[in-house]
Amino acid sequence: GKVAVMFGGDSAEREVSLKSGAAVLAALRAAGVDAHAFDPRDQSLSLLQSEGYQRVFIALHGQGGEDGRLQGALEWLKIPYTGSGVLASALAMDKWRTKLVWQAAGIPVPDYVLLDEHSDFAAVERRLGLPIFVKPANEGSSIGISKVKLSDGLATAYAEAAQYDPLVLAERFVDAGEYTIAIIERDGRPQVLPMIRIVPAGEYYDYDAKYLSDATQYLCPCGLPAEQEQALGALALKAFAVLGGRGWGRVDLMLDHQGNPYFLEVNTAPGMTDHSLVPMAARAAGLDFGELILQILAEARL
Ligand code: DAL
Ligand code: MG
Repeated sequence: GKVAVMFGGDSAEREVSLKSGAAVLAALRAAGVDAHAFDPRDQSLSLLQSEGYQRVFIALHGQGGEDGRLQGALEWLKIPYTGSGVLASALAMDKWRTKLVWQAAGIPVPDYVLLDEHSDFAAVERRLGLPIFVKPANEGSSIGISKVKLSDGLATAYAEAAQYDPLVLAERFVDAGEYTIAIIERDGRPQVLPMIRIVPAGEYYDYDAKYLSDATQYLCPCGLPAEQEQALGALALKAFAVLGGRGWGRVDLMLDHQGNPYFLEVNTAPGMTDHSLVPMAARAAGLDFGELILQILAEARL
């Protein structure tokens, strides 16, 4: 049946989504699927029904497409879609509430403080210690994020992040390494793909390092002992499951120098550009891009 590949949208991650969606659309067409581009910024969702779409591949990132709103609309329209449902999408988009759930479930998270304009920035700096990551709670692709390295830098970083979301987090920067674990469901069972270590050439894995620079190094295999990777994979599956994650996703984490993990967030509609991590992990597992996309589509559900 007819498949709508939803991409574009009007979140701050529109440009990334345009690339993800183009790659997904091309892969589906190459596999003989009757797939069509659908940008909910320009097209009404009611067209999904009137034009006879039977499934939706969601390649939208950020607010509107990845945060449960679109998923809720598709539930009403009764059109199966890829990835997580309403609750998991909404929770995962909110990095603060993700942490609250994870803390309750025993998933380790970096020490953090919620900031507002009345925060005692000096006290926050003393408590967390530099460097500190300052992030809008509801954004993706590192948009609005600063890494504060110098004393008294928190107020400026807060103002930057607050442009994107009233909820702003200050998080202790765990510096021994940044990792990501992709999760793909097969026959309803979530499985982890090989873990990737990200080694940005700059200060951290920011927007440029994600999409523009070729200086970022990606290590897959990630270099950790097999037992440690296995244990982290099990923890990532739990982190995904307690949020209610479904279909596919990507769990980001950091390790400290003792090898202790700190989970950062889950992306329920991760990037699928040619720089992106889920396709890279899939390749390491012997799954090419086309096979990966078909596998994700096969798990589309209501
Ligand atoms: N939010 C971006 C698209 C990612 O997680 O890959
Ligand atoms: Mg994200």
